[in-house]
Amino acid sequence: MPAHDVLIIGAGLAGQRAALAAARAGASVAIMSKVHPVRSHSVAAAGGINAAISVDDDWRSHAYDTVKGSDYLGDQDAIEIMCSEAPAEVMHLEHMGVTFHRNDKGELDLRAFGGASMKRTAYVADITGQALLHVLYEQLMKHHETVELLEEWFTLSLLTDGDGRCCGVVARDVRSGRIEAFMAKNVILACGGAGQVYKPTTNGLIVTGDGIALAYRAGAPLMDMEMVQYHPTCLVETGILITEGARGEGAHLLNAKGERFMASSAPNKMELASRDVVSRAEQIEINEGRGVGPGGLGIHLDVTVVPRKRTLEALREIVNLGRDFAGVDITREPITIRPGQHYIMGGVKTDVEGRTPIEGLYAAGEVACVSVHGGNRLGANSLLDTLIFGRRAGEHAAARAAAVAMPQLDALPQLRRDAAEIEQIIARPREGRRVSEIKDELGEVMNRHVAVFRDERGLQTAAETVARLKEEAARAWIDDRGTVFNQDVLGAIELGFMLDCAEATVAAAIERKESRGAQFRTDFPERDDQEWLKHIDISLNGDVPQVGYSPVTFTQWQPEERRY
Ligand code: FUM
Repeated sequence: MPAHDVLIIGAGLAGQRAALAAARAGASVAIMSKVHPVRSHSVAAAGGINAAISVDDDWRSHAYDTVKGSDYLGDQDAIEIMCSEAPAEVMHLEHMGVTFHRNDKGELDLRAFGGASMKRTAYVADITGQALLHVLYEQLMKHHETVELLEEWFTLSLLTDGDGRCCGVVARDVRSGRIEAFMAKNVILACGGAGQVYKPTTNGLIVTGDGIALAYRAGAPLMDMEMVQYHPTCLVETGILITEGARGEGAHLLNAKGERFMASSAPNKMELASRDVVSRAEQIEINEGRGVGPGGLGIHLDVTVVPRKRTLEALREIVNLGRDFAGVDITREPITIRPGQHYIMGGVKTDVEGRTPIEGLYAAGEVACVSVHGGNRLGANSLLDTLIFGRRAGEHAAARAAAVAMPQLDALPQLRRDAAEIEQIIARPREGRRVSEIKDELGEVMNRHVAVFRDERGLQTAAETVARLKEEAARAWIDDRGTVFNQDVLGAIELGFMLDCAEATVAAAIERKESRGAQFRTDFPERDDQEWLKHIDISLNGDVPQVGYSPVTFTQWQPEERRY
């Protein structure tokens, strides 16, 4: 049976950075991913990565902006670590070969991003995630003797021993359908968020909450799950991301009257207020009849105010996206966008070393909640989060591996349970609903009721719908009954993961009876620090989500009113 010191689930930036750190520390490592590593969703990250690297910046200013952006729900010890370690991490990436954009003096160029008090976003045009991912992948090649790449392996469950320690996973080889157990001293979940719970979303089809659900089912608490970020600029039909870098370069948001409506909600920051603020302002324009495009469901993003040469150089990917997916030349006319699901601030609760409450189980990146983003993540802080906490988790897991023995567990019972579940999915009669129909309904109900604005009634409707969809999913049928590349059967399993994530999100959103960050309750429109300046934890009790609380960590910044 394969056995490793550190087994990483997910090969995006958090996973690859964790692998590099663990390998450098001398651990034997495997990265398991359901896709080829450079197809991980980090490849879609566009606008950049934040770090206080300019001479007139300071990491404390970055940390304060992050705390304020989080609406004071972020844990300040974790935020201090992320922001103080950011400059060295960015320079390290540069030294490894990331071709960051440079200014006329030859220094790393920085662009403005939302919620930041100064320019601090380093970037590679608007393909920053892709650039980073490819460089990390190259670096991992150097460690081919100690890092095994398990490409196109789909993780089905976590293995835990009688003492509740995590000691590996059971996974299915996507190519052949073979199921195998992998033992490990440590497992690091680094397999991204759960954007596909929503429809539309900026997230790729692979982003189905696998790691969050695996940890939840194994007994780990989830934290801040109600905090779901809507990005202000997504294409209306498809949800495709139009980078915040566009507004960073100076693009305007306009309503049907041609007004820069951000003047009323964020007179100082305007289009560069934090995402929760901008998305809500856009939705108000749309709801009050000042939207543009078919049904008035959109807002204009006017990039024509940015010099054309600069757009073609620094925003070239969205020039392509505008042309290919909206038929618009963004250098000559406004493009219609709207707020769309982009990121979940919540995830598997961890400490600053990536440890979850389950011994031997770590999490890093969007799957995790450290919590550095609290109620709302600042743009360009997610790449940073993946790298800082991916590295820390990799280092910590490698050190732990040196101190513990390889777990001895009979994995056969779990392997048989997982195999039986797959056989049962394949054997379902072709009646009732298909997996894809249930997924569509889930995405639509979440986008209707658990979006930019929420209220008790809508949230209860979402809770009832998710409960019904869970029942239907247990009988949902698929077409493909084969073993080779059977994506249908994996889709059925992913649907179960997504429903678990949705259930936790809705439970937490119902629980939080205030408005903070991305959670705006029209029935509780004020932020209530007295009652709700605390994290909501969701754990599984039997089959039922159970609510708990944990304190927010403060170091130097007390809550103030947010002004933009
Ligand atoms: O708009 C963007 O480029 C997205 C960046 C992010 O989510 O950090």
